[in-house]
Amino acid sequence: MVTSTAGATRAVRGGQGKPLLSIRDFKVEYRTGAGATVHAVRGIDLDLYPGESLALVGESGCGKTTFGLGLLRLLPRLGHASGTVTFNRGDGAEIDILGLDGRDLRQFRWRDAAMVFQGAMNAFNPLLKIRGHMHDTMRAHTKASRQEIEDRAGELLRLVRLEPARVMDSYPHELSGGMRQRVLIAMSLLLEPEVLILDEPTTALDILTQRSIVDVLHEVRERLGFSMIFISHDLSLAAELADRVATMYAGRIVETGGVRDLFYQPRHPYTLALINAVPPIVGDLPDLESIPGGPPSLAALPRGCTFHPRCKFATEECKAADPPLLAVTDQSGDAHEVACIHSGEVHLDRRVRSDDLETPA
Ligand SMILES: Nc1ncnc2c1ncn2[C@@H]1O[C@H](COP(=O)(O)OP(=O)(O)OP(=O)(O)O)[C@@H](O)[C@H]1O
Ligand code: SF4
Ligand SMILES: [Mg+2]
Repeated sequence: MVTSTAGATRAVRGGQGKPLLSIRDFKVEYRTGAGATVHAVRGIDLDLYPGESLALVGESGCGKTTFGLGLLRLLPRLGHASGTVTFNRGDGAEIDILGLDGRDLRQFRWRDAAMVFQGAMNAFNPLLKIRGHMHDTMRAHTKASRQEIEDRAGELLRLVRLEPARVMDSYPHELSGGMRQRVLIAMSLLLEPEVLILDEPTTALDILTQRSIVDVLHEVRERLGFSMIFISHDLSLAAELADRVATMYAGRIVETGGVRDLFYQPRHPYTLALINAVPPIVGDLPDLESIPGGPPSLAALPRGCTFHPRCKFATEECKAADPPLLAVTDQSGDAHEVACIHSGEVHLDRRVRSDDLETPA
């Protein structure tokens, strides 16, 4: 029976109640063979609330996947995580994720938190039918009987709008990209995790398939009530699926806010630049601005604010120190934080309509 987790069926906005995940000064470094250190995640403070959907957006290489892998302790051998990540489980247990090992770590992954990885095909064993994937995953973590696994897998597959009779007997290569992505979403929910991390869930899918994945995610979240962090460089996806958005640049979060505040009143020049680079779906095409230059190397960061070489608001002062993430006041009164010393000068100069940011039906 597919049930709702901890009764959390409605999203809670950032800043309210006890966080489900509390992340403090979280860092990940990769020590490469060449002796260089890549500072992929550079001190993130973030809370995820029960039932909340948080989008993490930013350019390629800014550390989004590393952040997700680090939270679930899935980093490759070269990666080293530090800081504190506390998981306040629905049953009242307080778990220090970076301190977990052995059986406790295995239990945390899948049962408490699961991740749908970037690139749906790579996540499957090509020699195993979907039925095998479902049974292996459940057996590795539970004593469920064969029939119980069949029932649960079938129910979740129907929930993601797939036909269990056909899909369970298919090999991964026999399914389309959109079907594989939906199978992965169903698999990740087998053990009813309280947190689901989705890494680029719609990248490489055509626009109609993207639309159906967005609808499926809305439905399963409404039904099961888990909290979600989804990683994407696609602002339209964030606009549709998120309660709150965090903009990431060069390994740090530079702005967080409620989805409407962030898209209608961005306060960080990088968030503004990302929005100004999105073409509208309807109406006249405004002058779109690309962001000059490219993201910095995370092994050799510019001094001061790491965005300054590309920032149209930059002054000499910006080269002195990387600004901390500080609260700013919004008309809505919701929590909004920004890491920029000139945030008061940042205004959206074109009117963004909500449908500019949404995937067309
Ligand atoms: N295994 C690794 N060893 C060394 N460096 C790595 C490793 N994995 C990632 N990196 C580096 O860490 C940084 C962040 O990479 P990451 O894949 O987390 O970015 P991303 O934001 O997910 O990018 P994309 O949008 O392209 O998926 C990059 O500079 C990348 O080269
Ligand atoms: S601190 Fe300066 S360089 Fe950095 S984002 Fe703000 S204005 Fe731009
Ligand atoms: Mg990535």
